Amino acid sequence: MEFKHIPIMLNEVIDNLKIKPNGIYVDGTMGGAGHSEAIVKKLSNEGLLIGIDRDQEALNASHERLKEFENVRYIWGKHEDLKDILFGMGIKKIDGILLDLGISSYQIDEASRGFSYTKEAPLDMRMNKEQELTAREVVNTYSKEKLEKIFFDYGEENFSKRIAAKIIEKREMKSIETTSDLCDVIRSSIPKGKDAVDSFKRIFQAIRIEVNGELKDLEKAIKDGIEIMNEGGRFCILTFHSLEDRIVKNAFNDAAGKCTCPKDFPVCVCNAKSFGKIINKKPIIPSEEEQINNPRSKSCKLRVFEREKEHPVR
Ligand SMILES: C[S@@+](CC[C@H](N)C(=O)[O-])C[C@H]1O[C@@H](n2cnc3c(N)ncnc32)[C@H](O)[C@@H]1O
Repeated sequence: MEFKHIPIMLNEVIDNLKIKPNGIYVDGTMGGAGHSEAIVKKLSNEGLLIGIDRDQEALNASHERLKEFENVRYIWGKHEDLKDILFGMGIKKIDGILLDLGISSYQIDEASRGFSYTKEAPLDMRMNKEQELTAREVVNTYSKEKLEKIFFDYGEENFSKRIAAKIIEKREMKSIETTSDLCDVIRSSIPKGKDAVDSFKRIFQAIRIEVNGELKDLEKAIKDGIEIMNEGGRFCILTFHSLEDRIVKNAFNDAAGKCTCPKDFPVCVCNAKSFGKIINKKPIIPSEEEQINNPRSKSCKLRVFEREKEHPVR
């Protein structure tokens, strides 16, 4: 299947990265290289783009798309391992990073990956096909309590308890193997008259986040990225749901030196340090036109951080 993915808020991301032609940039979620292509076009021969993705199919598609550019490196890995990846390449500092979180349209549309509740497929949902944990394992082996927690924390699903209980009941008779098996269980768990599609979306999102550990190391990726960025470098992050956005907002606030001491303390005892500033207090959202042309952009938010010289806040 052809790799189709429309890069979201492309102009906003490129403007905010403030790309220096000779700089070193990281696209930590390369996907189909939509954003990467626009970045590399702004670089001179001395500039470098490092594209990272945990999905080999995405990297292959990116390689094909960017084959005319020599100053691109393709790394099969996770952006939370950024420091090690750069260290292995002999790179100490970079000039900007982009994270476009979540999954690509290609991953959703490719039925065999099992990400979509609209397509019949084995329960898989792995971004990295070499990884052991699959959605099938989560659904068929996790305890009721663990499933409930995942559905509530990662899916914000009101019927988490009922759905988890029904999964346990059904899987005792027969294992839950496919996307449609899971949809049937969800449908039979929620009260009559409620729209099952909303629950499908939330439960599939929750399982996907668990399978890929999507939120686990995001804070680390942000901290490490800021630490190894040159002064003036920009960190752009696109998020697609409130859980991701909250982590990014808090991590940027911490890096901007938000002091956590009580207001009446005369001096800072939490030793807050600032590594730079938040560029947009409110996240940037796609234009109305983009939201109409690309409905997948609707929930997207862009936050931007600029690296400055490290200093104590008080
Ligand atoms: C929304 S897509 C990126 C699309 C890309 N910006 C484009 O324009 O084509 C997200 C990509 O990030 C990858 N990904 C998600 N989490 C990752 C992680 N922790 N480390 C590396 N890649 C990750 C996914 O496999 C997917 O290909």
